Amino acid sequence: RLHNSYDDLLLLKNARELKIQYGEGSGTAVYNNFMYYNVYNSRDMGKLDLNTNKLAVRKTLPNAAYGNRFSYAGVGWQDMDFVVNESGLWVIYSTEDNTGNIMISKLNETTLDVLHTWNTRQYKPSISNAFIICGVLYATRPVNTRKEEIFYTYNTDTEQEGKISIIMDKMLETIQSINYNPSDRVLYVYNDGYLVKYNLIFQPMLH
Ligand SMILES: *[C@@H]1O[C@H](CO)[C@@H](O)[C@H](O)[C@H]1NC(C)=O
Ligand SMILES: *[C@@H]1O[C@H](CO)[C@@H](O)[C@H](O)[C@H]1NC(C)=O
Repeated sequence: RLHNSYDDLLLLKNARELKIQYGEGSGTAVYNNFMYYNVYNSRDMGKLDLNTNKLAVRKTLPNAAYGNRFSYAGVGWQDMDFVVNESGLWVIYSTEDNTGNIMISKLNETTLDVLHTWNTRQYKPSISNAFIICGVLYATRPVNTRKEEIFYTYNTDTEQEGKISIIMDKMLETIQSINYNPSDRVLYVYNDGYLVKYNLIFQPMLH
């Protein structure tokens, strides 16, 4: 369902509805009028043209696990989690070779070819969800039913992982999706039926 503006979304009006067939899981992302998703029962990625509702590109993500093999802790079938920012498209997933740990691939948004891949040592099914800001992947885990912790980072520039602890309040227990939007610097979180916004403040790291 596509709304013309964020206000329309909040008021549940002015929506255009498209039905896509053969998509799997909730790791989709929309970017430049295309929607990226995991094609049903395959390790293929789909790029759907939202103007025409036609599949523009279908491409295999090499070795990707699929079919609810290594989803996140709080949500099934999110084998592929697509991430966008102003300058690109990424996918967070896992493979048998990397024993279920998180893999990150940067994609060519035109062709869906893999441009670069990073292997992490963080087991994907043990985290609630993940998002990427400025080339750094952040992973979260529950602290209790009302608090979530951003606890793990992987920097694709330095290929280093790190530990942090940023506690976030949540409405209910389970997080199904987290996405960062660089244009408004907001984290959009889907939490048991609530769409929750978190405004982010960035500050330099002091060593
Ligand atoms: C993506 O693919 C298109 C079409 O093949 C090509 O023109 C473009 O240079 C590629 N971009 C990158 C970043 O590789
Ligand atoms: C977007 O991704 C690129 C890597 O493709 C990264 O260099 C850049 O910092 C990111 N920008 C933002 C605002 O996250």
